[in-house]
Amino acid sequence: MPSSSSFRVALLTSGFVAHTALAYTQVNVPTPFMNKNIDPIVFPGSYTSHLHSFYRSDAVTASTSSSDELRSGCTNAENPNDLSTYWTPAVLYQSGDGSWQPAPVMRFSAYYGLGDTPAEVPFPENLMMVAGNATATTPEEMPAEANSEWFCEDADLFDTFAAAPLLPQLPYKAGRPGAYYECPSGMQAMPRLRFSIRYDLREVLPSGWSGTAPVMLASGNAFCSHGDFIHGWTDEGGINLVAAMASKDEYLSVNGALGYDGDVMDCVAVDADPENGTSDYADSVEMKSKRSIPAFGWSSKSRFARSVRRM
Ligand SMILES: *[C@@H]1O[C@H](CO)[C@@H](O)[C@H](O)[C@H]1NC(C)=O
Ligand SMILES: *[C@@H]1O[C@H](CO)[C@@H](O)[C@H](O)[C@H]1NC(C)=O
Repeated sequence: MPSSSSFRVALLTSGFVAHTALAYTQVNVPTPFMNKNIDPIVFPGSYTSHLHSFYRSDAVTASTSSSDELRSGCTNAENPNDLSTYWTPAVLYQSGDGSWQPAPVMRFSAYYGLGDTPAEVPFPENLMMVAGNATATTPEEMPAEANSEWFCEDADLFDTFAAAPLLPQLPYKAGRPGAYYECPSGMQAMPRLRFSIRYDLREVLPSGWSGTAPVMLASGNAFCSHGDFIHGWTDEGGINLVAAMASKDEYLSVNGALGYDGDVMDCVAVDADPENGTSDYADSVEMKSKRSIPAFGWSSKSRFARSVRRM
């Protein structure tokens, strides 16, 4: 029963823990720029997804299908060359009036690297990836290769939070799911991506709780944690991302045509399609009941957009 309850979604892989880390880089963003019931990979064009929290390029809509579309957006990332969009199911807490509200996010980090093999090629144009299983309800149904884990920032609270499982780990593997240590012959490794998200519940649940945590994912319990990504790095940034992973054990800055690592764009990221969809959890549940498209087949997969649509 934590009286103070800061925890984070962190993404540690066996590569990170047990093997020599290759060089890496990291791009942070303070908060999601929107929560919305869309998922351009799993439910393209539809407003019937569970609620997701969206980070980085704000050009994303329910219909986004290309890297170029994202490059026209504004990003609140601490690297203006990263115009990718990243999203995860919204983490919700139950407020005093019984409604479910998005939990405050302290920081969303995308780590690139920390793999066992260096990256050889940039992300392919229009790359889309999903890690995790949005319909899993048990540990057995979680794709093992997604390495999703929850844990508590404060080690003293670890047991409490482990008992109320919550934090996902969603690393993206280079090459293909399961290609953990090396690529099959004839394939080349692209940068490996993992998400790490810290939520701070101290602000909204200051007295903690007893029993079941009044916290859930918009898509269900902790086992359905998942993460989505559409590549929108600038061309130069994407190439420099590969170079940043060439030497060992170092943090390397990725710079590009739009600025330096650590720079922030002078813009405010906003919903590009405010007339449609919802940022309200209860409304999203209502809209989801009208869903006609099955979500089958979208656990830990990547694909290339079938066509490039330009705005
Ligand atoms: C995802 O979860 C569903 C349960 O909704 C399960 O039937 C399915 O096997 C899981 N997929 C994987 C890849 O484990
Ligand atoms: C989005 O909202 C606009 C303005 O209300 C509307 O014209 C458009 O049809 C909507 N798009 C979808 C896909 O519902």
